[in-house]
Amino acid sequence: QTGMFTYDPGFLSTAATQSAITYIDGDKGELLYRGYPIEQLAVHCNFLETCYLLLHGDLPDATQKADFTSLVTNHTMVNEQMQFFLRGFRRDAHPMAVLTGLVGALSAFYHDSTDINNPQHREIAAIRLIAKMPTLVAMAYKYGMGQPYMYPHNHLNYAGNFLRMMFGTPCEEYQVKPVLERALDRIFILHADHEQNASTSTVRLCGSSGTNPFAAIAAGVACLWGPAHGGANEAALTMLHDIQAQGGVEKIGEFIRQVKDKNSGVKLMGFGHRVYKNYDPRAKLMQETCNEVLAELGLEKDPLFKLAKALEKIALEDDYFVQRKLYPNVDFYSGIVQRAIGIPVNLFTGIFALARTVGWIAQLNEMIGDPEYKIGRPRQLFTGSTRRDVLPLAERR
Ligand code: SDX
Repeated sequence: QTGMFTYDPGFLSTAATQSAITYIDGDKGELLYRGYPIEQLAVHCNFLETCYLLLHGDLPDATQKADFTSLVTNHTMVNEQMQFFLRGFRRDAHPMAVLTGLVGALSAFYHDSTDINNPQHREIAAIRLIAKMPTLVAMAYKYGMGQPYMYPHNHLNYAGNFLRMMFGTPCEEYQVKPVLERALDRIFILHADHEQNASTSTVRLCGSSGTNPFAAIAAGVACLWGPAHGGANEAALTMLHDIQAQGGVEKIGEFIRQVKDKNSGVKLMGFGHRVYKNYDPRAKLMQETCNEVLAELGLEKDPLFKLAKALEKIALEDDYFVQRKLYPNVDFYSGIVQRAIGIPVNLFTGIFALARTVGWIAQLNEMIGDPEYKIGRPRQLFTGSTRRDVLPLAERR
């Protein structure tokens, strides 16, 4: 019995982590952040309110929301030296390689927030990381484009500031489109935390050594990059482009045949999940956002969106996928929304990392805040050779 939830003793004895932050019921397709359903947070709250909730355990009141927003807004700039760190990369470096480096490099600048065992340091590091991730992601993008960096503007909100740093130039005023601001804010909320996924477990294990918060979050960025995890939105859009190039909706049958052929190694990217054996609740919300953005931008006839909906319909009716409980996950539609916003495919996982930073920090702080925590040491079952002696070189076969 842990709080409101009961688990069988067998599960508890093997469960590596107990946490009070995010609850997923994979069979019901339910996702709660600190008890609040994701469907309600996505409609009634913005991303910074969700950040406050994940970090502090409850939604902020009006004063707390205003204070937290002001604190984050006033920490959005990064040290001017960071731009010289970027210059070491090739212009065509993958943005996730750049972001992994930039986040780790924050450790070299903010010494008053690097002692992970100091609650004040953790508090400041959390604000700095949430505030600076949009600036760093936009810098990685601008560096690749060969365009000047745009400094944050404190009169804009979190998503609007990021859009301007990404797509604004010093040559003219950038007008933030409210529909894009809302879509981005929702994408951030939907990706903010997801209990003990691969990158969160990486951050916990890394932070358990007592390293600084920036280094632990950089480890999470590196893990999220993988195509089986946060890289799936980039892979899902690439998959849709490939099917489109091979003939689009008419060719879906051929593609599905390849997926069913185990030897092909082809997966339906954006489908399936380690935990959800029902529809990922985030995917439904992402599809709604997709509809809204494409309609507002007059892109509802976007061939990739039509292809995605046709692929989803077939997968939801095909026994192969139904038997394996393969439903669309958060990554299936997020790529289409981000593409409509103008975000390049190779930056999709950077957006995911930007959003997930608050979840990583909340989970790291929950672990470090527990006086019983110790350095992680995953168990192993040894399957190698039994003891044997070294033979002289001449006798080795
Ligand atoms: C994220 O953990 C998290 O919470 C992650 C995440 C988060 O917010 O942090 O939710 C974000 O990472 C979402 C997942 C994004 N990844 C993808 O969309 C990549 C494509 N999906 C697959 O790689 C896969 O579904 C995984 C890795 C997500 C899960 O793989 P599992 O654990 O092997 O899935 P499973 O055990 O349920 O598979 C059952 C069967 C297997 O086939 P059989 O051996 O039974 O014949 O389904 C097959 C799998 O091979 N399968 C797929 C498939 N996913 C599983 N077949 C085709 N296409 C797929 N996408």
